[in-house]
Amino acid sequence: MKILVIGGGGREHAIIMKLAESPKVDKLYCAPGNGGISKFAECFDVAATDIEGQVALAKKLGVDMAVVAPDDPLVAGMVDAMNAAGIRTFGPAANAAVIEGSKVFSKDLMKKYNIPTAKYEVFSDSASAIAYIREQNTYPTVIKADGLALGKGVIIAQNEEEAVTAVHEMIDELKFGKSSATVVVEEFLTGPEVSVLSFTDGKTVVPMVSSMDHKRALDNDEGLNTGGMGTIAPNPFYTEEVADRCMKEIFLPTIDAMNKEGRTFKGCLYFGLMLTPRGPVVIEYNCRFGDPETQVVLPLLDTDLYDIFDAIDKGTLSDLDIRWKDGSCACVIMASGGYPLSYPKGIEMHGLDEKGQVEGAFVYHAGTKFADGKFLTAGGRVIGVTCTGSDLKQALDRAYAAVDRISWDGAHYRKDIGKKALNK
Ligand code: AMP
Ligand code: GLY
Repeated sequence: MKILVIGGGGREHAIIMKLAESPKVDKLYCAPGNGGISKFAECFDVAATDIEGQVALAKKLGVDMAVVAPDDPLVAGMVDAMNAAGIRTFGPAANAAVIEGSKVFSKDLMKKYNIPTAKYEVFSDSASAIAYIREQNTYPTVIKADGLALGKGVIIAQNEEEAVTAVHEMIDELKFGKSSATVVVEEFLTGPEVSVLSFTDGKTVVPMVSSMDHKRALDNDEGLNTGGMGTIAPNPFYTEEVADRCMKEIFLPTIDAMNKEGRTFKGCLYFGLMLTPRGPVVIEYNCRFGDPETQVVLPLLDTDLYDIFDAIDKGTLSDLDIRWKDGSCACVIMASGGYPLSYPKGIEMHGLDEKGQVEGAFVYHAGTKFADGKFLTAGGRVIGVTCTGSDLKQALDRAYAAVDRISWDGAHYRKDIGKKALNK
């Protein structure tokens, strides 16, 4: 099998490493890929959002399957375009990817089908949004851009002033372009967060090992929101009892709801959950593998990933026995100085060749470039230093030991990944 993976971050690196384990996979391609991925897959300089370019590349390479990993090409219909060109593709069609592409769609879906979520209202004019916020008069309150916003479209306003500013910035100043012309104003909930990625062929849903993201830039969940500064799996807050409840109240009802709407979802459906005092609720759906959740979930997968993709395509997922390894996995993101605000690129990295000295460690590349025999930084989140272990403590100790050997000017990372989970 020849497989093209579309995207170029740590998540795509993790998907590629897992596919590389399959005896059925002969050749891996990635577009655009990155410096680290280029060691394992042939990379092509085609943007992840370039639908025509990616379809042309898949045809030229004669691939047996394409895997569309990032949100924007999924929402824009890359899977539909690949299928129309006769290419088997892993990922949801655009009419199902809307579950991430529009928060209004997903909130209305949950309301219609009684799937637990935060109470909300939808607004396209700022005066009505502000009137509603004043009438509720409960803070914090949560304001979300309807469309994709690079993970930055959620504002937790601590008071009226912050809420009013957020509404004006989103609706009137179109801070996130068309994505924020409509907003969802929702109730602020509290509780541990859990990410559950799942495989689904539209009939069967198989949750993967649970995980926990760490979204804020600094230790103790301080600082700005980021794309994710580290992850651990499994998430100890996600007990078997919670898992059973989520299956009954959230996972199966969501798959059913999408079918009833004529939007069958095939691919990886990501449930962003919060375990509130009144039970698990959906904070968000993503139509794809999470990043950096994938970097800790796939290393624990004990079944051939190609077989899973193949079964999803054929609609035979219920026939497959998907197994997970014992133990835990931890991923510490090392980021460029300045991230998540502006940061320099092209800085030489040191110590990557020594990572093998820490047993079980692997470095997933998120934003790197390989040039003249050296790795250079090429993004905000640069690498995800990942390690499995017999338990979470061992996985974390090893991941941090590997982090200690890697350096570049300005590199920063959180020192407390997994602490909340360890202290549970
Ligand atoms: P998202 O970009 O949708 O993943 O949201 C970013 C983060 O905002 C989530 O991981 C939560 O920590 C937080 N968040 C989103 N919605 C709510 C809510 N209704 N109540 C409390 N926190 C929320
Ligand atoms: N880690 C959160 C996401 O992938 O959206």
